[in-house]
Amino acid sequence: MFGYGCVGQGLHDVLNSSKGFKADIVRICVKDRNKKRRIPMEYFTYDRDDILNDPSINLVVELIDDADAAFDIVTTAMKNGKNVVSANKVMIAKHMRELVDLQEKYHVSFLYEASAGASIPIIRNLEEYYDNELLYSLRGILNGTTNYILTLMHNQGIDYNVALNEAREKGFAESDPTLDVDGWDAKYKLCIITGHAYGLFLDPGEVFHYGISRISKFDIRYAREKGLKIKLVPYVGKTNENTITSFVLPRFISSDKYLYNVDNEYNGVITEAAFADKQFFSGKGAGGHATGSAVLSDISANSYGYKYEYKKLQQATVTSYTRDYRLEIYLRYNDEKDRELFNFEEITEYFSSRDYKYVVGIVNLKRLYEIREQLPGIDVFIVNTGRKGIN
Ligand SMILES: NC(=O)c1ccc[n+]([C@@H]2O[C@H](COP(=O)([O-])OP(=O)(O)OC[C@H]3O[C@@H](n4cnc5c(N)ncnc54)[C@H](OP(=O)(O)O)[C@@H]3O)[C@@H](O)[C@H]2O)c1
Repeated sequence: MFGYGCVGQGLHDVLNSSKGFKADIVRICVKDRNKKRRIPMEYFTYDRDDILNDPSINLVVELIDDADAAFDIVTTAMKNGKNVVSANKVMIAKHMRELVDLQEKYHVSFLYEASAGASIPIIRNLEEYYDNELLYSLRGILNGTTNYILTLMHNQGIDYNVALNEAREKGFAESDPTLDVDGWDAKYKLCIITGHAYGLFLDPGEVFHYGISRISKFDIRYAREKGLKIKLVPYVGKTNENTITSFVLPRFISSDKYLYNVDNEYNGVITEAAFADKQFFSGKGAGGHATGSAVLSDISANSYGYKYEYKKLQQATVTSYTRDYRLEIYLRYNDEKDRELFNFEEITEYFSSRDYKYVVGIVNLKRLYEIREQLPGIDVFIVNTGRKGIN
């Protein structure tokens, strides 16, 4: 095993309490020689080769927080003929194609259920249950930190920075929370899920994402007055027979929707399919034990020879990706010049006051992608209204 932090220790607890399945942890490779550990020091090593070059080890569980080092560890392990389990969404999303090719080339298994939605078993469901289903779309809440912040803002009316600090104190947010609040984490998970839902390995850099760090009390007030909540919702869906689109955007959720009650650090995923219709998965999206349980499930699956078959990749029905997709958005802004950037095709609501302005109208995802680098620098907030039937 690599890493003995939140998830590594969580997995250790889960393994120790597991009645049915037993696995021996031979060695644990960590980084910091001065850290106190809660189990005997003879388990630990600081040299990755003690694990990677040990022929008696048949499975490497990678649970470290450094994506580049993780890529090196995981690829070396596969090249050395070892099966691998990982939870590292950044590493997997950035190198998915290469990792899939390596497991084929070296006849090993590479499982990573915990990397998307932590305890929610979405990847294996997409692989096994939806293997022949006509999946229209998948959306959800895949980041616990932002959901926790949005829940506090909505329920207690507190400001973004106060809510972010509370998320930090509870241990949900990293010391640098950019990955969560700006939507990167949700996007990485969406890219991994897309590989299994549609057989396309998207380059995360090509997918539009927008987070919640620009949210204000005006946006929360607008949502509350209309009986809505704002959630950060990654989306992937078909635009026609063989094309998909995807993006990460805050979204208004009404009280009759499944995601409305997915609060705090919980995650939720909704699939819409031709035959199964709508399905809803919900569970803890972070935490040592919840994530450890998904890792244990992969370790157990590995023990009976399970591999992802990437069935949608084999079927190859989805062959292209588009950003030519119309969306209805709410845009809160101050300066008319900022609104003009969006090239609204149509505006249905307009409000102006001394403090702020907003419009609701239709924009093209293509345009959002074009102006993506300007967005963090301007005082606006964008929410997808989720209105259907405009494409
Ligand atoms: N936390 C969650 O709820 C959660 C949920 C889903 C997925 N994940 C993913 O799971 C992975 C682990 O997250 P975490 O929260 O457990 O992180 P963490 O608490 O920060 O622990 C990271 C561990 O990795 C070790 N480490 C870092 N670089 C290393 C290297 N080059 N070689 C060996 N060990 C190294 C650290 O060693 P030291 O102990 O010596 O510092 C530490 O034990 C990440 O990829 C994360 O994205 C986490």
